[in-house]
Amino acid sequence: MIPQPTQHPKLDQRRGINRPPESRFAADSAEWSRELLRRTDDWIVDSGVERLLAREFTTTDPRNWHWVDVYPRWPAEPDSAPTRMLADWRSREWKRIEFLYLHLPYCAQRCHFCYYFVSTDTSRSGEYLPALREEVRTFLSELPADATAGDLFFGGGTPSMMAVDDLRVLYDEVYEHIAQDRIGMVTLELHPRTMRKDIHRLAESGHVRRVSAGVQSFSRPVLEANGRIYVDPDRIRKVCTRFLDAGVEHIGLDFMVGLHTQTADDVLTDVRHIHALAQEGLIDSVSVYPRSFTEVWGPFSGEVVDEAVLAEKFRCHLLYRHFFAGLGWQEGPMYLFTAPTFSANVPSALVDAAATAQSLAFGNSARSSFADTQYLNRRDPDDYLEAVGEHGGATFAHVPFTRAVRNRRHLHFGVKRGHFDEADFPVEPTAAERARLDDVTGDLVERELVVRDGTRVELTQLGMLLVELVHQEYDRTFPEPATT
Ligand SMILES: C[S@@+](CC[C@H](N)C(=O)[O-])C[C@H]1O[C@@H](n2cnc3c(N)ncnc32)[C@H](O)[C@@H]1O
Ligand code: SF4
Repeated sequence: MIPQPTQHPKLDQRRGINRPPESRFAADSAEWSRELLRRTDDWIVDSGVERLLAREFTTTDPRNWHWVDVYPRWPAEPDSAPTRMLADWRSREWKRIEFLYLHLPYCAQRCHFCYYFVSTDTSRSGEYLPALREEVRTFLSELPADATAGDLFFGGGTPSMMAVDDLRVLYDEVYEHIAQDRIGMVTLELHPRTMRKDIHRLAESGHVRRVSAGVQSFSRPVLEANGRIYVDPDRIRKVCTRFLDAGVEHIGLDFMVGLHTQTADDVLTDVRHIHALAQEGLIDSVSVYPRSFTEVWGPFSGEVVDEAVLAEKFRCHLLYRHFFAGLGWQEGPMYLFTAPTFSANVPSALVDAAATAQSLAFGNSARSSFADTQYLNRRDPDDYLEAVGEHGGATFAHVPFTRAVRNRRHLHFGVKRGHFDEADFPVEPTAAERARLDDVTGDLVERELVVRDGTRVELTQLGMLLVELVHQEYDRTFPEPATT
């Protein structure tokens, strides 16, 4: 049953804007669900997607489909060169950081599917937090007084497990070096069941402006099958209301498709709850992450991933896309669906000003499947403590935007957005690169993953569903020249 909207005077305006057009959603939610499912299944039949999927599965293994990192590749052995990394940072006059990330690696329970570096052993968190602060200070104290940042993001792990005062100290450390009003958005990630009771005080004191809460699914059996702590919609409602009362401007929820045992029926329940939460003006963005079945964390023990499982994952994903299209929300390039009241900072392929750092991450950091990022890939918080103890921090290496990097980024962001233009590369490709690009696009056209119209290349629906695969295929078009 869908609960009635909560009474909350501050939300009236958002409710007005976020309310979906009545004509598209019958008052009878059962009829509406049937219609949504019918539309999804009609598309599946009409597009012949099952045949195309089956064909893909005969040649590629979904356990190898995952995002290719969009950041420049490490030149070599980053872990062994911390001093050089810090020297790299100090050798330049930075004025802006696009994405500033602090990793809080602790979780109450490890979800089976999770691909982040997390730890359930919090016994050394009392050492980790000061080390993180130390590292932030080491790097940010180099910035000029007028430095700016695009996004400041505290993620994890589960930052909401940390004490409010500890998090505040970290925020204040950042704000000491980059004035708060020079940061575009400040987001805190939380798990609505493993958060401190008073965590909303960070919004009251103006330290955070947006929260992002992990839900993944509202089905208790699905979450149990995935080793995740269950959160019910009413709890979400309470958490959102508390944060909005405390003054946050935006709230996003994370959901996933491709969870073990999850079906389109589970997603139908999820979208009904999302619909209600959006109508109440409680949330204004939702991320729907297709679960990566990478070799690192999944499939987990005992789980079988076959065609049927993947077909259902795609059906769930499509259902979400139809749902949000009906709701009038915009679909962004990073699986982020946004209400008209929220406009997210979309990463640009071309930000390459000499004084702009693309991304700076502190903590043991980043995703285990990305082997070559600007983030330091230390798996274990304990290793990180040792590293910070030795040299004060080592999360950065400035890797220049070579022509290959710039063109790869044009492709990567284009693929995530759903289209790109072969005439618009930031740097004119060589004849050999054009030939490779032609090969890849030709191959993808044959596989019905993209269509070509002159120089414009557009992902088909199947391509959007297999976007990680398309991403990887395009990755080989602009290799770095071999260094000798
Ligand atoms: C750091 S967690 C969010 C905060 C909090 N730890 C929680 O789970 O509620 C970030 C998000 O990454 C997504 N995620 C985790 N593992 C994933 C995987 N294997 N594939 C795709 N998305 C994943 C989930 O949607 C999760 O909410
Ligand atoms: S999904 Fe969130 S709660 Fe689960 S293990 Fe990953 S970071 Fe922790």
